[in-house]
Amino acid sequence: MNPHAKTSARSVIARTFAAMLGVAALVACAPEASAPLDPPLAGSSIGGPFELVNSAGETVRWDDFAGKYRVVYFGFAYCPDICPTDMQRIAQGMKALEERAPDLAAKVQPIFITVDPERDTPEVVGEFTSAFSDDIIGLTGTPEQVDAARDAFKVYAEKGEATPDGGYLVDHSAITYLFGPDGEPLATLPTDQPGREGAAAFAAEIEKWAS
Ligand code: NI
Repeated sequence: MNPHAKTSARSVIARTFAAMLGVAALVACAPEASAPLDPPLAGSSIGGPFELVNSAGETVRWDDFAGKYRVVYFGFAYCPDICPTDMQRIAQGMKALEERAPDLAAKVQPIFITVDPERDTPEVVGEFTSAFSDDIIGLTGTPEQVDAARDAFKVYAEKGEATPDGGYLVDHSAITYLFGPDGEPLATLPTDQPGREGAAAFAAEIEKWAS
């Protein structure tokens, strides 16, 4: 026997109404499904032209990445904890993106820029980035070049505590930015979660804003 045969017209209407409410609730929870949101950093003045030096000692300019999405992180190679953790998560997030969306991943360039040009020579920056991924470009420069890049990207950095080995820490903002193919700021990317979930969240955020 078909149980639906017993369904009254009234309960069909009730169910249809409930289904409509359900759809309305879904739309309310996911506004991007109906109207695309602007990227959170759209229109902000973060980022801009720079002239820096890569691990091979070659000059690299912001405009050299025209046509590519860019993941940008400022830090320093001697950082004991936060920078290495963030760099590892950027590398893992990029790997997750390669698995989920290889065509998009091929258009995304991760870039590490030092805030400590005094110690982070081209060679040191290259060793640091290649410890996480050969796909990450490490950049340094003269103190003036690095200052100009920091200013353009609104990055805070200041020499901090001395360390027992005779070195020093650098206090700095640690934000991972996503920029679009014209160098326009789009969003910050999450590096707060470890493991596969964190990498998936990182990749999903790039997919969300890169179209
Ligand atoms: Ni750091």
